[in-house]
Amino acid sequence: MARHLITSAIPYINGIKHLGNLVGSQLPADLYARYLRGRGHDVMFICATDEHGTPAELAAAKAGKPVADYCAEMHDVQAEIAAGFRLSFDHFGRSSSPQNHALTQHFARVLGEQGLIREVTEKQMYSVADGRFLPDRYIEGTCPNCGYTSARGDQCDNCTKQLDPVDLINPHSVISGSTDLEMRETKHLFLRQSAMKAKLADWIDSKTDWPVLTTSIARKWLFDGEGLQDRGITRDLSWGVPAQFEGAPWAGMEGKVFYVWFDAPIEYIAGTQEWADATGGDWARWWRTDKGAEDVTYTQFMGKDNVPFHTLGFPVTILGSGEPWKLVDYIKSFNYLNYDGGQFSTSRGRGVFMDQALSILPADYWRWWLLSHAPESADAEFTWENFQSSVNKDLADVLGNLVSRVTKFCNAKFGLEVPSEVVLGERETALMAQFSEGLAAYVKAMDAIQVRRSAEELRALWVLGNEYLQAAAPWSVVKTDEAAARGIIAFALNLIRLYAVLSRPFIPDAAQAIMTALDCEDWSWPEDLDTAIRALPAGHRFTVPENLFRKITDEEREDWAKRFAGRRD
Ligand code: MF3
Ligand code: ZN
Repeated sequence: MARHLITSAIPYINGIKHLGNLVGSQLPADLYARYLRGRGHDVMFICATDEHGTPAELAAAKAGKPVADYCAEMHDVQAEIAAGFRLSFDHFGRSSSPQNHALTQHFARVLGEQGLIREVTEKQMYSVADGRFLPDRYIEGTCPNCGYTSARGDQCDNCTKQLDPVDLINPHSVISGSTDLEMRETKHLFLRQSAMKAKLADWIDSKTDWPVLTTSIARKWLFDGEGLQDRGITRDLSWGVPAQFEGAPWAGMEGKVFYVWFDAPIEYIAGTQEWADATGGDWARWWRTDKGAEDVTYTQFMGKDNVPFHTLGFPVTILGSGEPWKLVDYIKSFNYLNYDGGQFSTSRGRGVFMDQALSILPADYWRWWLLSHAPESADAEFTWENFQSSVNKDLADVLGNLVSRVTKFCNAKFGLEVPSEVVLGERETALMAQFSEGLAAYVKAMDAIQVRRSAEELRALWVLGNEYLQAAAPWSVVKTDEAAARGIIAFALNLIRLYAVLSRPFIPDAAQAIMTALDCEDWSWPEDLDTAIRALPAGHRFTVPENLFRKITDEEREDWAKRFAGRRD
């Protein structure tokens, strides 16, 4: 039994996320967490809401609520939707927690003591019309790198380049649209990332098994242009972790808070502390290599726009502290999911948002489509046609149909119990050999976190079962050889139990429905197929489950396509 720490990039607090966000981090992280738990490993799976920064402040203002209240409410909304998607976090924390405040200030202090923070008096964009300094995200303009006209002050969404607002061509305030911006003096803290460049480069170079998407983005930021730059880690805001605190190695930072990207990844650790405080668990054995975390494997999940912050920014915090914190072992990153010929757009309400998705179909339908089409090697695209055909074919025709045919046939001919012991004839032995090969391929893909590949291998296992049933044809065999037909059905019922165990990381509700119908609680991973295929003995009672999956009709598909084309209030 190994110990696995898993984190998903923590979603911004403002607003409900769309399916592209979900498939870029939380959902694949959940898949992996469920898989490892299924294999008997000790897993700590942490996520949280990312609550600081201007977007939260402005969203709260728009909602007419104090920002703390707004965040508390939105946290609960996001937690509930996450539960609806069956995201199996051990803890869903909040970056605004007291634990994160304390830990963020701890890291800042230690980094300061290590000489990795410098004070900089700089000029910053001040919006005369808005009467305030504008944080990076609230300035938009044209990207100097690729020419994209809606680049934000911190990063270009088109080419992923990290930016400073002053880099933008034709900058304007996102709040008021005003171009009446002027530079005014203000003091900020800078994290001396450049001082860690060589160390980071060696570290990234040692990660030869990481996805190219991850390492190529990291290398780009390490070496392109002038190379890795120091980063401002404070902002002129009131909502956040105060940059002036007792024991701080600097003065004069009153009224400023740490930059949201500084405290957000620290919440991975603080979230584990929140979990420990709530459960009496021991957070340090997951995070401190001097306190038991040396045998932990730590995997992070995120969209590609998050990669620079996780390969450079956060590692500078961890390594630069000089303290024995657990560093990430593997970074799994994702490209973007597009929506029907364009981008998902939160501001324009284009695409399907998490709450809407659950209001039209149960979680498993979405989980299956999203994971089997995860944007791994390239951007992927959601279309309603593709969604309809995947659901109808893979889930309804293949898996659902097999479960229903076998249980119904058994009920009709032999009653609601496993009608015989499992005896492996020629056909069954051949199937077991194929199954065992397919299972090894599935395990290999899951171990490597190849999400699409894993889905393909799982589907292939389902198909094997269907083909077996088709070829064994118990409905004709029963007419001449009842014992043989009983044997086929006993084998098929046991196969169905295996599908529940193996499919659970992808479609947990359907897996549970199968197990409940089979009146079985044996979720143990089939380390030995020969034993696993006999788990349900002759005489074991079961019930016929409700239809596991229903088909999506053409009418529904057309209706939904219209409904989600754009503009959400
Ligand atoms: N909230 C950020 C986003 O949605 C992700 C933060 S991940 C963390 O892009 F590492 F900072 F926590
Ligand atoms: Zn760009």
